[in-house]
Amino acid sequence: MDYGLKDAWQHIFRIGAAVSVKILEDQKADKIIGRHFSSLTPENAMKFGVIHPEEYRWNRAEMDSIANYARKKNIALRGHTIVWHNQTPSWLFLSDTGETVSKNELFKRLEEHISLLAKHYNDTVYVWDVLNEVIDTDNGDSNGFRLSPWYKIGGREIYEFAFRCMKEASPGTKLFYNDYNIENGEKLEATLRFLSGLLDAGVPVHGVGIQGHWYYNYPDGQILRNAIERYAALGLEVEFTELDISAYEFNDKRIVSEYFPSMPEDRHQQQAERYKEIFRIAANYPAVKNITTWGIADNHTWLDNFPVPGRKNWPLLFDQEYREKEVVSVLVETGLRLRDC
Ligand code: GLA
Repeated sequence: MDYGLKDAWQHIFRIGAAVSVKILEDQKADKIIGRHFSSLTPENAMKFGVIHPEEYRWNRAEMDSIANYARKKNIALRGHTIVWHNQTPSWLFLSDTGETVSKNELFKRLEEHISLLAKHYNDTVYVWDVLNEVIDTDNGDSNGFRLSPWYKIGGREIYEFAFRCMKEASPGTKLFYNDYNIENGEKLEATLRFLSGLLDAGVPVHGVGIQGHWYYNYPDGQILRNAIERYAALGLEVEFTELDISAYEFNDKRIVSEYFPSMPEDRHQQQAERYKEIFRIAANYPAVKNITTWGIADNHTWLDNFPVPGRKNWPLLFDQEYREKEVVSVLVETGLRLRDC
């Protein structure tokens, strides 16, 4: 049998990708998904401001299409995301008279939002990213919490409430905390403190999503192993939820006219090494349940506009024409070897 990633790795963890309806309608993408992916994440369709733009108006069309696609093809969905400081609608934090909404009202709005999402998508969603990016050790408060409207109005309690509420609405679904740069340094420590505090208080948290917006030269294996071990030691599952490997390093802010016209060969090799190492290390830990890339192919990646708008990047496993990069067959072989030994 000719295996794709999802079958080669099915005994170890799920392989996922972030998608939009536009991507799903592309036949080339559809073919790749059928062959390689066992999990999908809506790239934007479930974000608060997209799906619930006004208090009494829901905009579920795109999310429904993604969920129907997943149902039809029997692919698991990651529910992404509920509480996040970005892509929020303006009504959410304002009262009817245009003042800052009260704490009680914000709790109520969150509860209603959660219960509707759960009602419509619980049958396909296997993990909810209940909180996204609430830790900010650079500009947050002394406990490392991001000073977002959620936090300023709802306090830390609203984070606990979000998990408890989701647990009630989706008793059978895993509940995750998702964030970037939480594999290392101060942010790793702040996240561990936050999550162990939640667990001690009996808050239903099952896992941590390490986003994995990484670079051809970062992170090294030791960082990864340490992060997985420390989260797993709390009893948490771990998923790499938004993996992409930039062709540029973190500090490389070169302007558009100086960017690479195409991915240099040595960067290709280094990128392939990163992917191989991430998969290899993740495979050693039963706590790791999913590796999801933030997109499918290099024709559509947010990194074309971040951190330098208009600078082309090639961070994914498939190239701009949807051809497999060489590393894909190596990853398939690795998965099969691990399965057979
Ligand atoms: C964060 C979010 C994602 C996505 C990426 C950038 O990591 O969690 O949903 O918006 O930023 O595209």
